[in-house]
Amino acid sequence: MLTQSFHRLTFPAPICWLALGLGLAISTIGAASRSEAAEIERRPFGKTRDGAPVDEYILRSGSQEVRILTLGATLRAWTAPDKSGKMADVLLGFDDVAGYESADNQYFGCTVGRVCNRIGGARFDLEGKHYQLINNDGPNQLHGGNGRALCRVIWQAAEQASIPDIAAVKFSYTSPAGEEGYPGELKASVTYALAADGKLTLTYSAITDAATPVNLTNHAYFNLAGAGAPTILDHELKLMADQYTPVDSTLIPTGELAAVAGTALDFNAATAIGAWIDQVSGPPTIGYDHNYALRATDGKVRQVAVVRHPGTGRVLEVHTDQPGLQFYSGNFLKDQPGKGGKTYAHRSAFCLEAQHFPNSVNEPRFPSIILRPGETYTQTTIYWLK
Ligand code: GAL
Repeated sequence: MLTQSFHRLTFPAPICWLALGLGLAISTIGAASRSEAAEIERRPFGKTRDGAPVDEYILRSGSQEVRILTLGATLRAWTAPDKSGKMADVLLGFDDVAGYESADNQYFGCTVGRVCNRIGGARFDLEGKHYQLINNDGPNQLHGGNGRALCRVIWQAAEQASIPDIAAVKFSYTSPAGEEGYPGELKASVTYALAADGKLTLTYSAITDAATPVNLTNHAYFNLAGAGAPTILDHELKLMADQYTPVDSTLIPTGELAAVAGTALDFNAATAIGAWIDQVSGPPTIGYDHNYALRATDGKVRQVAVVRHPGTGRVLEVHTDQPGLQFYSGNFLKDQPGKGGKTYAHRSAFCLEAQHFPNSVNEPRFPSIILRPGETYTQTTIYWLK
């Protein structure tokens, strides 16, 4: 069942660079041989319950393939070889739009905003005005609200001209002032760029016409043994952080930074995710669900985590310029149906969500997430699958 638009053009590198300079969109940028070519394919994926069409973009480079939906700019699938060349899709997701619109969708792979993670009391004050948002997680707001949160809207896609072996698509969305209660019209974008070496770079950008909080992330759920494998407790995690943000009973940070040394949160040496998870499985969390304060960066992208699955040899590196990384061990997965008839069990996936700290909008001790007119929000995160 192919293909609404499937382009396989090849251009010599100088033409690619020229196209890049002119801002032209070229669907497929290829090197000479097929195996090295990067390709972009667009397929209709279905319709939302409101009748809006959803497209899927398939990016291929080398032996890597990722699939991204215009609904929520959602990373739906990532197929890559393991050490013995066996292919598997390492991301949780659904086969159809109805799955993404169902209660089983726990933000699988989507772009989360306008403010990801939690806002205490679902409210904030900004420039002398009080903003009351929808509370969708006890008293708090989680992941940008409900029906018009960024993960639930249709983004406009534009294939990007690129250099050989990188397939890139930019997803853009304009969020009107007042949407989900946030001030200012926000023009947001995220570009996914897949390279043949397994590097998937997510580059975010946003501007506004009035001051607003902005904190974007991607909520991909990984199982490096392949989505549907029963657990991630055997995956080994190295997470380069000395501190985390302790939380209250509703998972809102207290504002302090606490040391991970000597606790079950210390992954500075690679350790199986399951090694100490029982120690963080009482209230307020039921497993790992913690925001790590990453070591300082002067805005540069640096490596912050490495996850290795011993069975397949697959390795995922995470690089980001963000100050925080939410490590979530899939605690709310509940034996639910997923892609290809698979079942997603409790703790059968992990998320490493690069972002600013939770509740930053109400916590002056945390780096600010306020974007003002004339400024540009940027964020770069790389998931590198080896
Ligand atoms: C994570 C969050 C968890 C949970 C999950 C979605 O980002 O930290 O507490 O809400 O999203 O189910």
